[in-house]
Amino acid sequence: MTKGHLLTIEGIEGAGKSTHLDFIRQRLTAAGLSVLMTREPGGTPLGEEIRSLLLRRRQGGMAVESELLLIFAARSEHLADVIRPALSAGHWVVSDRFVDASYAYQGGGRGMATARIATLESWLLESLRPSLTLLFDLPVAQALARVDQRSQAQGEQKDRFETEDTAFFERIRQSYLARAREQPERYRIIDARPAVAAVEEQLQQVLDEWLPQQLSQ
Ligand code: TMP
Repeated sequence: MTKGHLLTIEGIEGAGKSTHLDFIRQRLTAAGLSVLMTREPGGTPLGEEIRSLLLRRRQGGMAVESELLLIFAARSEHLADVIRPALSAGHWVVSDRFVDASYAYQGGGRGMATARIATLESWLLESLRPSLTLLFDLPVAQALARVDQRSQAQGEQKDRFETEDTAFFERIRQSYLARAREQPERYRIIDARPAVAAVEEQLQQVLDEWLPQQLSQ
């Protein structure tokens, strides 16, 4: 049995992560791997309830400390009930967002000291880290235009994060890019500007290069 790995997918809203999840799942499955797709915040019944609390727009907002702790509460459930058992059983776990999102959104976006996030990270995760993180990157204006289009097409109200301003998403984007530069062995940046087929081509290239290295270890 191959050793399980955690792969994570990150990026600002409108970067097209969700559009490509199925493609990533198919490529991993085609390589003979047993794959579990999940997401944060969420991935467990309690985690999904916490997700609703976090995304719902509310008068008076939410303190950034509460936001971070709720996200880590959901993550704690996710780790205990889904991620750690799946990895131990040799499955490959693909999470649509993980701890890097806390550094980017609560750290970069909200200005929370990263040392606080790092404390929660090492407490909960211990030595567990993603083996590969795919960062879908594109200019904020293009991303927010996609969010607007989607919410209009689906007749849905934007959530508590989606209603933030351009400067908030610019800080998040820069924070993700800085982390990608600091940890090049783990991060791969995907240019999310082009249409679906061109993004899939990049994903295929990254997986073709990265997967054989993992499978031979
Ligand atoms: P999404 O994954 O559907 O885009 O929605 C999840 C939202 O939660 C998104 O706006 C980013 C936010 N989020 C954080 O702020 N911090 C985190 O650690 C995670 C996992 C998500």
